[in-house]
Amino acid sequence: MRTSGLVAAALCAASTSSAAAIYERQGNGSIPQPPASDLAYSPPDYPSPWMDPEANGWQQAYAQAQAFVSQLTLLEKVNLTTGVGWMSERCVGNTGSIPRLGLRGLCLQDGPLGLRLSDYNSAFPVGITAGATWSRHLWNDRGRLMGTEAKGKGIDVLLGPASGPIGRAPTGGRNWEGFSVDPYMAGIAMAETIKGIQDAGVIATAKHYIANEQEHFRQAGEAQGYGFDVDESLSSNLDDKTLHELYAWPFQDSVRAGVGAVMCSYNQINNSYGCQNSKLMNGILKDEFGFQGFIMSDWQAQHAGAATAAAGLDMSMPGDTVFNSGRSYWGANLTLGVVNGTVAPWRLDDMAMRIMAAFFKVGRVVGETEDINFSSWTRDSIGFIQPHASENPAQVNFQVDVRGNHAHHIRESAAKGTVILKNEGALPLNKPKFIAVIGEDAGSNPAGPNGCNDRGCAAGTYAMGWGSGTSQFPYLVTPDAALQRQALEDNSRYESVLQNNQWAAVQGVVSQPNVTAIVFANAASGEGYISVDGNAGDRKNLTLWNSGDELIKNVSSICSNTIVVIHSVGPVLLTDWYENPNITAIVWAGVPGQESGNSITDILYGKRSPGRSPFTWGRTRESYGADVLYEPNNGNGAPQSDFTEGVFIDYREFDRATAENPENTPLFEFGFGLSWSTFEYSNLNVEKRQVRPYNPTTGQTIAAPSFGNASTDLDDYLFPSNIRPIRNFIYPYLNVSSAEDASDDDSYGEEAADFLPPGALDGSAQPKNPAGGAPGGNRQLWDILYTITATITNTGSATTDEVPQLYLSHGGEGEPVRVLRGFERIERIAPGESKTFRAELTRRDLSNWDTVSQNWVITDAPKTIWVGSSSRNLPLTATLE
Ligand code: BGC
Repeated sequence: MRTSGLVAAALCAASTSSAAAIYERQGNGSIPQPPASDLAYSPPDYPSPWMDPEANGWQQAYAQAQAFVSQLTLLEKVNLTTGVGWMSERCVGNTGSIPRLGLRGLCLQDGPLGLRLSDYNSAFPVGITAGATWSRHLWNDRGRLMGTEAKGKGIDVLLGPASGPIGRAPTGGRNWEGFSVDPYMAGIAMAETIKGIQDAGVIATAKHYIANEQEHFRQAGEAQGYGFDVDESLSSNLDDKTLHELYAWPFQDSVRAGVGAVMCSYNQINNSYGCQNSKLMNGILKDEFGFQGFIMSDWQAQHAGAATAAAGLDMSMPGDTVFNSGRSYWGANLTLGVVNGTVAPWRLDDMAMRIMAAFFKVGRVVGETEDINFSSWTRDSIGFIQPHASENPAQVNFQVDVRGNHAHHIRESAAKGTVILKNEGALPLNKPKFIAVIGEDAGSNPAGPNGCNDRGCAAGTYAMGWGSGTSQFPYLVTPDAALQRQALEDNSRYESVLQNNQWAAVQGVVSQPNVTAIVFANAASGEGYISVDGNAGDRKNLTLWNSGDELIKNVSSICSNTIVVIHSVGPVLLTDWYENPNITAIVWAGVPGQESGNSITDILYGKRSPGRSPFTWGRTRESYGADVLYEPNNGNGAPQSDFTEGVFIDYREFDRATAENPENTPLFEFGFGLSWSTFEYSNLNVEKRQVRPYNPTTGQTIAAPSFGNASTDLDDYLFPSNIRPIRNFIYPYLNVSSAEDASDDDSYGEEAADFLPPGALDGSAQPKNPAGGAPGGNRQLWDILYTITATITNTGSATTDEVPQLYLSHGGEGEPVRVLRGFERIERIAPGESKTFRAELTRRDLSNWDTVSQNWVITDAPKTIWVGSSSRNLPLTATLE
């Protein structure tokens, strides 16, 4: 029987269970503290679900994988599951190969905005800017073009898209890698991106699973580097309802979209590491959501061997325990674990099946995959095939240009993801007499667009966050260059001052008659291994960088036509100056990628329709409620980040708090953005559909299948004498044939059953999860219960796009005022023209997660819907029967 406890609705369920045994016995040398009664606790969930041959969308891939995996030896299967070590080959992640059958090692490469550590690739707009387009087809195109670029470089697995972090705290360092703080919207953006990437023949990776909401303390080693005395990664402590309704929601959509890979995260969740948390990997992702692909660890996020296998991990990345240690939790240890029975043989088969099924699902053919034609570790043509060990010199970079005409999409997407927050008639610009462009953020980085490693700085115009989710710019069109080109075309006078501290010069320019001053300012963040100006990944505040606020205040104090453009990773505080009448427009240009200047020019001159904000602009940092934990709060044990706000982040928090205190009203709400025209909303129509009542899934899975036989003679797994080992390369072979010596473990020989939690080795048929049964969960969750339509009429004088949004109140106590449940970017509505907005509400959309029945339930509380142009401008409303 599957052992699965309920995650308590309360944060701090007590625990003394078999799960604790895993943490005590399987650690990486140090013994993690067992969960104390006052710390949140994650229940055990075993055995790890195996693939379902009938799973929707995976049947053919399953059959192909079965045919392939059935031919593999145990060593070959292990080779698929374990990376060869950091920088041991050309990609950021590389699995072992199966030369006997013509499969080269798989190449895994970042990331969510295109290709990292490569060349002749595009730099797409970051997630949050793509998100601000609210456009399904642009998300799909972006995914497809990124996938095409990956394929052209020989990449098999692209390490994106991301919806974790989702943006619990506005200062979260990596929020910009994802699309939106709203799970419904993020889920659709994830699904479209995944379909795009995989249609191009590359496996997509939904990451980081899960509750990876801050950079501080995500890894103990990294935190120690910043001088913190912590021995374990942060634990994100959250309840079951919040998990389902907020953080896991986009992952469920990703699974339904057929995503091939999921990356588990660095942090702990309820005091169990993301990559060995059986409840989250076995219980939620594979059992309840029906995920059929493979789970890879984030880089060095694996902290145990057999326990991670039992908890559902399928691939160890980059394969070594810590970078270049030459040791692995898997590799030889996994070989040994299977032979000695600590890891069920069917579990290894399932890992191999999942990896190969994802490979076949995206249309790959063994032996016919593109050669890897670039190296992450050098831009020279000649390098090493095994760079860390400096072995096998060869041509590694072939400078293959994979950009195609993707610049068109990039320019369009970044423009359509630019949000106009204020416009007192200053925009669109029309052949202005004199333009003065002010601020560092309009110009180039003196060190060049790629001058800072992994974009770890904020010099010049800000067009990409920092960290692993970056790419090398092929070029970067600055706002200064693009605006000047436009000015010359229009015969406008043009001057720019590109240093924030040149106040005398700025004053001389912006005090002249007829000037249109455009002030550029920014705010940056990124991944925790880089700290910029005291921002260790997470932002330390919500203010503009490089005295941006001062610059805006100074210019607007003397220039009555000051337009502010902000490049930022998320909200910044506009509170002090946004009402100044001299500030005639405020534009959020997000983080736009390589076409930055062209995109902002297209918006400022009204050539494109703008987007809508995918997060809230609050008056104060405190008004957001949840925040990053900046100081350890549990001695040197795992810092505890209690998500006590539940689902109340961003607009849900603002709506809740405003009801209590109007001072919390945000400056600009979620979903807000001005347009080039005005629109009238009318004719709300609610059509109820007839559907069968909800039936929890019943029945049994098949028993765990096994493919091929494996010898139990350790001599068969010894390092082959004809192979010269490469330094620190991770192999599946054993060095000695004595199990005791090989395991390096005094306790070797104890019963595996004592070693592992109950059920971990049980390969018998299991009851199906009532909320599960298919990829994405119970099929009936996707039944359409209501179709809502409304008429959108352009009452102004410009042809432009409108983004109608539908919000729902689930009703009942403790529920948000409203949540997003529908939206559409309707393009090019002409003056006087009406178009129909259509939204479909599924059973899942109307349900709440019921922690008692462990299923989705439509409560009896009255359900209200609203349709309008933002989360606070909702002219149409109706009650659902
Ligand atoms: C990041 C991942 C990334 C991986 C490989 C990790 O530090 O968290 O997002 O995919 O590195 O570069």
